[in-house]
Order: sequence, then structure tokens, then C-alpha cells
Amino acid sequence: MNILAANWKMHKTREETRAFFRRFLELYQPTATHHLHTLIAPPYTSIETALGMARNTPLWIGAQNVHQEEQGAYTGEISLPMLQDLGVHFVIVGHSERRKYFHETDELIARKLHRVLDAGLWAILCVGETLQEREAGEAERVVQKQVEAALTPLDANHIPRLIVAYEPVWAIGTGVPARPEDAEAMHRFIRSLLSRRFGEDGEAVPLLYGGSVKPENFSAFAQMPHIHGALVGGASLDPERFWKLHEILLDATG
Ligand code: 13P
Repeated sequence: MNILAANWKMHKTREETRAFFRRFLELYQPTATHHLHTLIAPPYTSIETALGMARNTPLWIGAQNVHQEEQGAYTGEISLPMLQDLGVHFVIVGHSERRKYFHETDELIARKLHRVLDAGLWAILCVGETLQEREAGEAERVVQKQVEAALTPLDANHIPRLIVAYEPVWAIGTGVPARPEDAEAMHRFIRSLLSRRFGEDGEAVPLLYGGSVKPENFSAFAQMPHIHGALVGGASLDPERFWKLHEILLDATG
């Protein structure tokens, strides 16, 4: 399965969301893209607007985060039942910005991931090392720890709805992506971790690359056998540029 997932982060009001979809839906060709799934995660406040704009299309709308508890005194937080009530298809879990700025631990991320998958939604689990960790030769060890911790509470029933995004922290929002062959090597490594734990089911989990993906650099990633698409920040905010990534992935995957 090939996937292009947009993570809008803290961007776009409802009106900006409508404007994006108006243009994107002019470009988007569902029949040409039947084996390419498009996922969009707007900020919470634009989810309902996005769902409305994407109605009767194959686009999936999701959330960028969720709280681990079902309800309670957690000022400012959003629960999974609230997201299910809106009708989201997926949730991003463990983004490095959540890990860094909101101190999310592997253990917390594992709880969130379990909750999302257990509810029957899809989840994009994000993993990735910092520059310091890569320079110290620790990249694989760090990613292994993140993947294994997140998988701990899962069983085989959860795996068909899991997507893993490898996003090296130093490549996010910097304009400097990983080298495609380094990303491919890490994807192969993540695949081996998934297969070791879940056998054939683990083989089918889509693996996305994220970090400064844009039309100018995506083609080399799209051609890598273990890279099934991308999780895109900045370049997903513009409908033309986000659509261009679709054309590149379609070209690369036939
Ligand atoms: P950029 O594409 O802006 O580097 O962001 C990547 C990302 O963090 C997607 O989740």
C-alpha cells in the first residue's frame, strides 16, 4: 500500500482548510490513485471542516494526537471517543514534536497507540533519531527502542491498521532530508523489527519517510523498495505541491 500523509501541524484556520480542499479536489484524481492512499491530519479545530470537504472522496482525515485517557480532568486535551465522534479515520502518534515539546515518553506513546488501534482506527506511529544520536552511531538502537516500546502492548489484531513513519528529527522542517539510501536502510531495519515480532503481518505494515519531503527531492525516496510513501509537513500545506508528490509517487510505483 502506498500512502501520502499530510501533517499540517499548527497551520490553517477553517477557511484556509476549505481553500486547500477546494483546490486539492480539482487536482486529485481518485481513479488514477486507487492504490495510493491520501491521508490528511489538520489541527483539531479544522477536522470537522476537512471531513465535510472530503465527504464522498476516498481521502482520509485524521488527528495529529490524542490523549491516552477516555475522559477526565485534563484541561485542553482531546480524547479518542471525541475523535471517533467526529469520524476521523486515523491518528498520528508519537511525533517527534510531541516527544520533544510535550515530553511524551515511549511508554505514553505505547498507551496511545494501543488505544487508537484497539478502537479500530488506523495509526501512524512516528519514530526517528536526533542528529546527535545519528552522529554517535546510535540511530538504529534509538529507533529499535522506540519501535519495540510502541509495539509492546499490541497483538496481531492491531497490526493491519498500523503505519510506521521514520522521521529523523534533524530532517524535520530543516529543508535537509535524509539521504534516500540512509532512509531506505532504516526502513529495512524497521521492517526486520516488525517481521521478527509479527511475522507475515509485520511484512505488510506500510513504512513512510518523513522530514523535508518536497517535490524537488521526493523522487529518489519514492523509488526505494522499502519506502511506501511519505509523511509530509511543510509541502503538504500547498495543494499544488502536495498533489505533485502524488504524481511523483505514482510515476515511481507504476
Ligand atoms: P516537514 O515536511 O515540514 O519537514 O515535516 C515533516 C513532519 O514532521 C511530518 O510529520
